Amino acid sequence: MSGPARSAARADPVALSGVSFAYEEGPEVLTGLDFAVREGRALALLGRNGSGKTTLMRLLSGGLRPSAGTLAVDGEPVAYGRKGLTRLRTTVQLVVQDPDDQLFAASVGQDVSFGPLNLGLPDAEVRSRVGEALAALDIAALADRPTHLLSYGQRKRTAIAGAVAMRPRVLILDEPTAGLDPDGQERLLATLDRLRARGTTVLMATHDVDLALRWSDETALLTPDGLHTGPTAATLARTDLLRRAGLRLPWGVAAAGLLRARGLLADTAAGPRTPEELAALAD
Ligand SMILES: Nc1ncnc2c1ncn2[C@@H]1O[C@H](COP(=O)(O)OP(=O)(O)O)[C@@H](O)[C@H]1O
Ligand SMILES: [Mg+2]
Repeated sequence: MSGPARSAARADPVALSGVSFAYEEGPEVLTGLDFAVREGRALALLGRNGSGKTTLMRLLSGGLRPSAGTLAVDGEPVAYGRKGLTRLRTTVQLVVQDPDDQLFAASVGQDVSFGPLNLGLPDAEVRSRVGEALAALDIAALADRPTHLLSYGQRKRTAIAGAVAMRPRVLILDEPTAGLDPDGQERLLATLDRLRARGTTVLMATHDVDLALRWSDETALLTPDGLHTGPTAATLARTDLLRRAGLRLPWGVAAAGLLRARGLLADTAAGPRTPEELAALAD
């Protein structure tokens, strides 16, 4: 369509513009929303419970259709027919919060192969994608395990592997650390780092401000008066925005304020994002 224009300024892989949405018989959850997922970002979508994170993610992945406005892939509006949705699904994959809402096949390998099989890919290609996805999630040994015998963390990894097997450019995860123990959370973040190193853009919804500060480089904050997007460190230092969003200050930002007040951290220096970084600053 707009070939020359697009080569001049590359369009975002996926973007919502002017999007409004209401569930049946409900008030509008999102109104006139603009949101672009920029290639290569580690993007956190932050908001309190009920602020619309899941709704926004389902709009981005095509599970819900905006009542007004558009969803675009590479700058082109998505057609909600079979072809358009296939194009969307090979660009964007959503991993829902509860793995039990996503897993349905008898074994891990079968579940992860469902998406690629559905794309009509040749068997050899399906096998190689499934192998790659299981390896990426560190669950190759579970390939033949019945899904109902998996632990919660293993089910979560299997659900993510199913999305990764589609080789999406944008991987969207709804509260991926919810229900994981600290070690499970560390493993997940390490996995996301590996996927990002391979070029996958990752968008994560969470209400955990500390996780967002540590993991993301860009933050989109859902507040009652709209979405505020900006670099993570600056956005999560905005007490006014956080208060409006019903969220607290990340501890790393609070610690940075304290260190600066005591002359232990330069005004321009970045604050700590992890206990290890705080310890290093104290040395
Ligand atoms: N299936 C649904 N039907 C009606 N209302 C819903 C449905 N899902 C969510 N909502 C409402 O939409 C709003 C946003 O919900 P949601 O997107 O799930 O927020 P979050 O993921 O940030 O917790 C809430 O007020 C919620 O009650
Ligand atoms: Mg949610």
